[in-house]
Amino acid sequence: MCGIVGYIGKNDTTKILLDGLKELEYRGYDSAGIAVLGDDKIDVFKALGKLHNLEEKVNASSSRDYELGIGHTRWATHGQPTELNAHPHLGEYSYVVHNGIIENYKELKEELINLGHKFVSQTDTEVIVHLFENYNNKLNDTTKAFHNTIDRLEGAFSILLITKADPSKIFFFKHGSPLIVANGKDENEVLFASSDAPLIGLANDVVYLEDGVGGIASAEGIEFFNDNYSWATLPTSKQFAQKDGFRFFMEKEIYEQSDVVSDCMLGRLNDDEILFDEIDKSLIDGINEIKICACGTSYHSGLTASYLFERLSKVKCNVEIASEFRYKDPLLTKDTLFIVISQSGETADTLEALKMAKAAGLKTLVICNVDNSSMTRTADATILTRAGIEKGVASTKAFTTQTVVLWMLALYFGKANNIIEKDKLQKELRALREVPKSLIIDDAMHEKTKRLSKRYLHGHGFFFIGRDVFFPLALEGALKLKEISYLHAEGYPAGEMKHGPIALADPELFTIALMPQNLLYDKIKSNVEELSARDSTICSISPLDFDLSDDFIKINETDHYMLEFFEMLIALQLLSMEISVRLGNDVDMPRNLAKSVTVE
Ligand code: AGP
Repeated sequence: MCGIVGYIGKNDTTKILLDGLKELEYRGYDSAGIAVLGDDKIDVFKALGKLHNLEEKVNASSSRDYELGIGHTRWATHGQPTELNAHPHLGEYSYVVHNGIIENYKELKEELINLGHKFVSQTDTEVIVHLFENYNNKLNDTTKAFHNTIDRLEGAFSILLITKADPSKIFFFKHGSPLIVANGKDENEVLFASSDAPLIGLANDVVYLEDGVGGIASAEGIEFFNDNYSWATLPTSKQFAQKDGFRFFMEKEIYEQSDVVSDCMLGRLNDDEILFDEIDKSLIDGINEIKICACGTSYHSGLTASYLFERLSKVKCNVEIASEFRYKDPLLTKDTLFIVISQSGETADTLEALKMAKAAGLKTLVICNVDNSSMTRTADATILTRAGIEKGVASTKAFTTQTVVLWMLALYFGKANNIIEKDKLQKELRALREVPKSLIIDDAMHEKTKRLSKRYLHGHGFFFIGRDVFFPLALEGALKLKEISYLHAEGYPAGEMKHGPIALADPELFTIALMPQNLLYDKIKSNVEELSARDSTICSISPLDFDLSDDFIKINETDHYMLEFFEMLIALQLLSMEISVRLGNDVDMPRNLAKSVTVE
């Protein structure tokens, strides 16, 4: 998730911008930049990597007084992390910083190039500043030019724009990604930020901008384009602010899954097909089989995908745990597409597996959350999950966005190979569009998991059971619990319980049963009845009431099993977190674990 800062006032503009960007570092980034305006001159500084690289460039320049400026930390979604792709982006006399994704950037870019505008970056953002200048050159009116620009953009765009054509103003607009505007503590001061942290200590009164609200800020004050806004008071704790008011980064990341899945799908879902900027049909030409390789939670999204690939695109798909794959002398054929999945892009076993596949001459694709990581630099192609930085060691939003990308990829394959029927594709696309809604957490669900968690703090273990894609989901639920509660749990195929594990059934054995209405309900129901008959303690998660369970978490009835999948995932994530809280564990940094396992 990128970060935005802005400042108008008489204090040290570059210092305020750089300090603000430092407060946004926790959101993750791969490059940063500021543009500052003073005496009708705009200076811009950009750097790859950590903020101290940017700071060195700013400090090396001849210090000047700047009346205003904008800054940005970039988490790559379109185009590699490079200085050219770093924000702010320049037109002829204006700069812009942007959070979100411009879905129609390709057509706008083509239109502007035909009008003679020169582009230097691979980003979608750059179209904004050229569009603005194109209008302003015609109208000679920056306000109208800004309005016309906003009207042409589609997608998510929270932006700050400065221009030599109106050097005392910052133009702003919020649509999608968060943006806050604040009156500074000093007179004639205005500040902007994409989250609270950079503003704490510098401002008291803020407006958390709603979608569709924009305006123009200057030393004279803030002029809003409409009155759909209200003033609020800023929190005082930065730590609290970095977690956006949640208790843990993991909790924040569970709650932001709906938004990041929307980002993940932006520009990739149109009326009748899936589009991936990052790949083309040549990647799948001649492919008869898919082999997926990953570790931990990423392995679980891969396992989920194997069901979807075979069901939706009729392509053979198998999934391997990377640490096993590396040493098994695998048989690899060149008609296999080798897909590795990794949040960090640095997991040693997965990276080595990727190198083995490349050495064997296979086409390789990485589904990753961090651009410019070892895996994105190694694979033939990368699809970014756009989940933003994931701070919690127990992976949540990474798994969710991986699963969504892989579901989209299965449909991409199905359409490219003329396998999937038009009606079936439409049904799948409709369901995909509903995923963000299925990830919105209502208080009742969270309250239920909080109350239930007190009953699951002991016992001699947990079984998480499910069928089909709910089996990898059961594995993921079990892993979440193990990681942060340190209680023993295992995910198991529900149909396999009678082949041995049911011997463990007794009141002290907790079974979390995933019982979707839209997929094999009768089968899973009979599996759970077998356990109930042996007095196992059962918590079922289902849209349908099930009176044989001791506890029950109700999810919404839907018309697609994958929407049940994501609603159940939320319940599993919250239940694990609330059990961990009751046990007094460190939810974000559980013992013995690292966020990225870069060793064997
Ligand atoms: C997930 O909750 C774990 N923290 C862990 O299993 C993780 O998924 C695994 O180490 C793989 O990491 P990666 O996705 O960065 O490759």
